[in-house]
This record gives sequence, C-alpha cells and structure tokens, in this order.
Amino acid sequence: MNEQIVILDFGSQYTQVIARRIRECNVYSTILRYDTPAAEIARLKPKGLILSGGPSSVYAEDAPMADKAIFKLGIPVLGICYGLQLLAHFLGGKVERGQKREYGKGMLMIRDTTCPLFKKLPAALQVWNSHGDKLTKLPNGFKPVAVTENSDYAAIENRARHFYGLQFHPEVVHTPKGREIITNFVHDICGCGKNWTMHNYVEFAVKEIRDLVGKEKVILGLSGGVDSSVAAALIHEAIGDQLTCIFVNNGLLRANEADTVRKVFGRHFHIKLQYEESTRLFLSKLKGITDPERKRKIIGKTFIDVFQAATKRAGAAKFLAQGTLYPDVIESVPIAGNPAAMIKSHHNVGGLPKSMKFELLEPLKCLFKDEVRLLGLELGLPKEIVYRQPFPGPGLAVRILGEVTPKRCEILRNADSIVVEEMKSSELYYKIWQSFAVLLPVRSVGVMGDERTYEYTIAIRAVESQDGMTADWVKLPYDILEKLSSRIINEVKGVNRCVFDITSKPPGTIEWE
Ligand code: XMP
Repeated sequence: MNEQIVILDFGSQYTQVIARRIRECNVYSTILRYDTPAAEIARLKPKGLILSGGPSSVYAEDAPMADKAIFKLGIPVLGICYGLQLLAHFLGGKVERGQKREYGKGMLMIRDTTCPLFKKLPAALQVWNSHGDKLTKLPNGFKPVAVTENSDYAAIENRARHFYGLQFHPEVVHTPKGREIITNFVHDICGCGKNWTMHNYVEFAVKEIRDLVGKEKVILGLSGGVDSSVAAALIHEAIGDQLTCIFVNNGLLRANEADTVRKVFGRHFHIKLQYEESTRLFLSKLKGITDPERKRKIIGKTFIDVFQAATKRAGAAKFLAQGTLYPDVIESVPIAGNPAAMIKSHHNVGGLPKSMKFELLEPLKCLFKDEVRLLGLELGLPKEIVYRQPFPGPGLAVRILGEVTPKRCEILRNADSIVVEEMKSSELYYKIWQSFAVLLPVRSVGVMGDERTYEYTIAIRAVESQDGMTADWVKLPYDILEKLSSRIINEVKGVNRCVFDITSKPPGTIEWE
C-alpha cells in the first residue's frame, strides 16, 4: 500500500464516505485526525491530501485547525466544505457567516472547463450543499472555477500549487458526478495508479501476516459471521495449519449454522477447526432467566469460559486473531455535532479477560465492510457467507422474549429459517440490513381446521440500515408477508399468529431482546 491519499477529519459525518469513494477508485486512503502534525503525514508519503467537511466555523474560537505546514508538503490538497474554508483561512482568504444557509440540491455552473477537477464533465452539474458559512474573499493565488446560485466561489483553484476547494460535497450520492470529480483528483491531479484491489491486498496481507507471526500459532474465534470468516480464510491462506479456529455452538444459532461452518471451513478450506458443542451448558445457565440484561451477561460470561478452556486445549498460541474493521479503529473527532463522536456501539464491549495473554492479529483493520466482502470472494468464500446479514453474538436469545428454553429455540429456529428462505428467494435478503423472526411467548387463541388453538406469536422484523445505529423498517411487499405468515403458521408447530414489526430505530432497537 505504497500509494495513498490522506484525509484529515474535521468531524464531518461524511469523512468515511470520502475514504470509501477514494478506495472505489482503487486508491488506498487513510483517515487521520485534523490536527495530525504535517511531519507525521509526510512519513506516510501520501500522493495527496483531502480536508474533510465539519460542523464548525473556521472563525470560531474552538474551531478545529490543521497544522499549517500541511500546505508546504508539496502535494495536492482538496478542501471540501469546511476544508475549503480552512484552506482559505490559512492562505489569505476570508470566510464569513452566509446570509442564507445553503442546504440540499443545487446547480453548479462550471466557468472554467479547463480545471482538471472537472475534466470530461458537463458544464452544469447537480451538487449537494450543506453549509452556513461562505467564502467572501479568495485566498492568495486562487481563482474561481465554478459558481452556484448562492456562491461565486463554489469551486476554486490554485492550479500551480495543485490546491483545490469545493464548497459542496462531491462524496455523497446526491452529487451524481461526484465520483468523477474524486477520480479526477486522485488519478489526474495526484497521479495515483489503480493499485488498491483486493487481489493485491491478499498478497500484501499474506506477507504481513507471515512476517508478524513467523512460526508461532494463532487462534481465532470463528462465529460464522462475515468478519471472522474472512479473517479466518485470509490468515489460513498466509499460515495454513498454524491457525486454529474455535467455533462455539451455544445452542442459540440459526438452523444449519453449525453445519455450514463445519462444511465450509473444515471440509472445503481444510482449516483446523475446533468445534465446541456447548448447547446444554448455555441452555442450562439460561434456565429460568427472563431479564434481558442478565441473559446477555450469562451468555457473555459462559462464552468466555468455554472459549478460554478451548484455547487451552488448542495448545499454546501467541496470537489471537480478530476481525476488527477500519470503522472500529478510526479515532472519532471530539467535536460537538459530530455524530460519530457520540455513539460507539454498546455491543461487543468487554472482550476477553486480561488474563488471556495474547498478542492481537487484526488483518482486516484497514478495511471497510464492503472491502471485506470483496476480499472474502477473492479468497473463495461462498456468497452465502460473504453476503450474510449480521447476526448478534447472543443469537436467538435476544429474539426470544423472556425465558430461553430448548422448545422455544426450536420454534424460533423453524420460523426464522422460513424468513431467511423466503427473503433469499426474493433476493431481498441481500438488499437489506437484517430480516428475521422474533418469538413472543404470549399465547393467543386461533382456529386451525375445526380445532381451537392457543399458541405463541411470531413477529417478523425487516430493517434497512447503514451501520445498525439507526434503522428504518422495510416495507416488505404484501405477497412476501402473506407467504411468510401462511408458511410460518402452517409449518411451525407452536405458532398460530404472525405480526409484522413497523418500528424504526430510534425509538425501537433492531433486536427485541
Ligand atoms: P440493536 O438491537 O441494538 O442492534 O438495535 C444493532 C445491531 O447490532 C446487532 N446486535 C449485536 N451484535 N452482539 C453482536 O455482535 C450483540 O450482543 C448484539 N446485539 C445486537 C443487531 O443484530 C443489529 O444489527
């Protein structure tokens, strides 16, 4: 990964989107805090620098400022929104509060079509704006290249120094030609090639893993989810049998889950798989427990106990591998108004006890989720694993309200596999974030044939989301809902009513718990 673009993050909600757009151009990108010293940036030898947007005003007392020396690195700079204002602020321009906030769609009129940012683009473009402040005086050596209705300086350049500024957001989908603008910046202006591909990454990562691990052993907790599966396949590619995967069957898995993992990893990839059958242990610990937090705690603790014992049996290993992704390691900018700074997932906190003395191996920690999926395909993992929906660690226990019993697990597993099957056959499964069944252990009256029934209810949940933090319920087509309801009630013994959850997050959560 020798060629890269560095993005300085001033707290925009779109910073990660910028990084992804650049990577979609097959160029590697790294996000750094806004105040990273120029010398530190120089060590990475980036081919260009992007200054992100952000919620602050450059003239505010506590505005996030960059190291001024970034403009002396001798590399191209692109300022986006707040980034443009910052660039102007440092280089002799002036930024003031605008009369009118410019928000939403606008038309950009390109006045100088020779500007390399707009190469091969039409003279009028739809763009997305979101700013209150306005550039009122150009920085030294700059000239305007494009305007909008509200701004004479919607795009500016100092072509000799390769400095550019955009008042609008090229990274968002509401700027339909934004990708081309970013492409022009990274390839034409910064001169990057197209080296960032998952094919190249496998080669790079395999070498890194081999160098780090040497002849030592590695242990990985395989959940069957996308991240741990791809990490397993990648590490196995690098070090083969030095890797042992531990798979814990906690009895709270979906139908066929354990079999699929054994088939794919054991039989197909020939990965050393240590299968821990712990269904009875987990279910006995959950007996009589109805409080959702207690259920979670018991599952978490039991998992650690089982995993710890399993690692001992697996033999001495120096490394513990984890499928940590880039969004988990990007340091969020502590600026009021930055949504990423406020929310960090409450899940997966805690982790393994300190007494487990491993060094961490995290071969996915510079990848975004969509890249991890591509990497999975590159490594030969089946679509069924690479494109699976997220499944919570405590599994079916957070989808059975109240006490978790073997009988209830069976009912939910049967209902859930109908939901998965129907969603997959309509292809909707791959288009949305999650779709699943929830068991409500309240009984209601029904009739089946001539018989009166008194059985449980299944709720169907389908949500659309980017990251699980917020979610919208999906308007599933009536014919799918009809099929789900009739199949679940006819085929799953113990269920006589089916409802559809129309709650978004917030105020609801995705899981019912
Ligand atoms: P909630 O229910 O909090 O879920 O809206 C947000 C996302 O997180 C998943 N989830 C979990 N994932 N361990 C996990 O690995 C957990 O304990 C857990 N609880 C919820 C949930 O499926 C959704 O995608």
